[in-house]
Amino acid sequence: MQLEGKNVLITGGTRGIGKCMIQELVKGGVSKIAVIVRDQQNLKQLSQEFEGVKFLKIVGDVANIEVLRKAAARIEDKWGHLDILINNAGIVSAGPLEEIQDEDVYGQVAINLTAVLLLTKYCIPLLKSSKEAAVLNISSGLGLIGMPFYSVYGSTKAAVRQFSDSMRRELAPFNISVTCSFPTATDTDMMHKFKGREMDSPEFVAERSLKSLLNKESQVIFGGKERLNENRLNFEAPEEFDKKVAQNYEERKKASLDHKAV
Ligand SMILES: NC(=O)c1ccc[n+]([C@@H]2O[C@H](COP(=O)([O-])OP(=O)(O)OC[C@H]3O[C@@H](n4cnc5c(N)ncnc54)[C@H](OP(=O)(O)O)[C@@H]3O)[C@@H](O)[C@H]2O)c1
Repeated sequence: MQLEGKNVLITGGTRGIGKCMIQELVKGGVSKIAVIVRDQQNLKQLSQEFEGVKFLKIVGDVANIEVLRKAAARIEDKWGHLDILINNAGIVSAGPLEEIQDEDVYGQVAINLTAVLLLTKYCIPLLKSSKEAAVLNISSGLGLIGMPFYSVYGSTKAAVRQFSDSMRRELAPFNISVTCSFPTATDTDMMHKFKGREMDSPEFVAERSLKSLLNKESQVIFGGKERLNENRLNFEAPEEFDKKVAQNYEERKKASLDHKAV
């Protein structure tokens, strides 16, 4: 698959990995990008930064079902079809489960998961109208291994993985590929709290995730060999992995306490 001339819808394009993906899309020859953005000011900034792009602008929160419906309706109206859907917007509220505010439980599920399910649902007829379509869902390494203090975030991201597998198989007869990306710690606002730690750059994650989409790969897992080994251990011998995690339980708890990016 080539990027040139494709019509793309992306959520969470104002910052971090999403903004780097817009950069990559533009580099690859995309000039029609639909964005769902909750802040007018950010929208203005995007238009100024990417002058050559004809943004189809949908203002609103992805947790609002009407915003998602409007996005699909506007695309149908303006373009008639969609080639690439990128479900990227996400938030995190970490900590021991009993300390996570109920609103933050609902918020993470609504933004990280429900919005992905519904936006994909509304976009399917548009993707079916494309000659060659693709969906890219941004999950997380925490969607592959359930870590303490990331129970809600990790659950939403694990569900994105499952959803991606289901949709890949469901949409295969329509020539719509589905790729799921599993970034590890990436240097964006979401990880502001951990500044100074070694992390992947958002440029790298964006470039590599889009490459996987173009190659129609089912998944891309970041974090190298070490992460792959951890995933294997967690799957084959979860009790062994429990012991590893228990060794730095307090450290992990402390680090999670004010990890909130919403
Ligand atoms: N950074 C990491 O270490 C890491 C690791 C694994 C997975 N991920 C995943 O990668 C994706 C991108 O994360 P990031 O690190 O680039 O995060 P980020 O820098 O915090 O950016 C988040 C983006 O999502 C948008 N967004 C959040 N809530 C929204 C809502 N309710 N409606 C519309 N847009 C909303 C934000 O828009 P505003 O500008 O309006 O806030 C922003 O554009 C997320 O799904 C995240 O879970 C990140």
